[in-house]
Amino acid sequence: MFESEQTERSGNDADTCGGKMMKPGKGLLKEMEQYACRHHVPIINRETAELLIVLGRLVRPARILEIGTAIGYSAILLSGILAKGGRIDTIERDEDMLAKAHENIKRAGLEDTIAVIAGDASDVLPCLDKSYDMIFMDAAKGQYIGFLPECLRMLRNGGLLISDNVLYKGMVASGEPVGRKKRTIVNNMREYLDTLRNDPSLDTSILTVGDGVALSYKRLETEMDP
Ligand SMILES: C[S@@+](CC[C@H](N)C(=O)[O-])C[C@H]1O[C@@H](n2cnc3c(N)ncnc32)[C@H](O)[C@@H]1O
Repeated sequence: MFESEQTERSGNDADTCGGKMMKPGKGLLKEMEQYACRHHVPIINRETAELLIVLGRLVRPARILEIGTAIGYSAILLSGILAKGGRIDTIERDEDMLAKAHENIKRAGLEDTIAVIAGDASDVLPCLDKSYDMIFMDAAKGQYIGFLPECLRMLRNGGLLISDNVLYKGMVASGEPVGRKKRTIVNNMREYLDTLRNDPSLDTSILTVGDGVALSYKRLETEMDP
């Protein structure tokens, strides 16, 4: 390896959290993928994981907020792209998920990096008073629209909001009629995407990665339309 390449690579490692980058399909993350598959836990899929890694490398966040921890898979993955000394706050309401997330985060040795906040995000979010570089929305799809104002309050200008599952098995974008049970979720998600697209402080792009991912960049003061 050329010296400059070596320096650049080790420089990258030194900037991430403790130099540890856990890869999807390897080690603990592989075990967690298998657990999620066996127990029907809806963790991010491989292509969404890869997208998060690339986005994280670009943003190099020091502070991440995640809504929807489940077993801690995406939080552990995201810890690998944190800036040195960075932290993740992640919110989960389900007792069983909380127990499993704590267990996995402990196994990963990330208790000082990932803070799991127990509770419903609608109660927790108004109590948080921090600024985040990146927010990953991955909870109950019908509730995103309700969480948005609190997320935008805490997302710093120049920060990135990533919302997962926004196309909900194609139902959100399709003109096909939606069954009664799913109609509220689909309508709420459509309202969420319209709100993101029409917010003058955001630049939003919707990708068909996984179950649909919305990327919303929050503009700096100098980037606002006149
Ligand atoms: C799709 S899973 C999260 C997967 C996780 N981000 C991953 O990829 O490893 C959604 C999780 O959000 C939690 N959840 C849903 N609505 C919530 C809410 N209002 N407050 C807190 N947690 C919520 C669910 O219990 C579930 O564990």
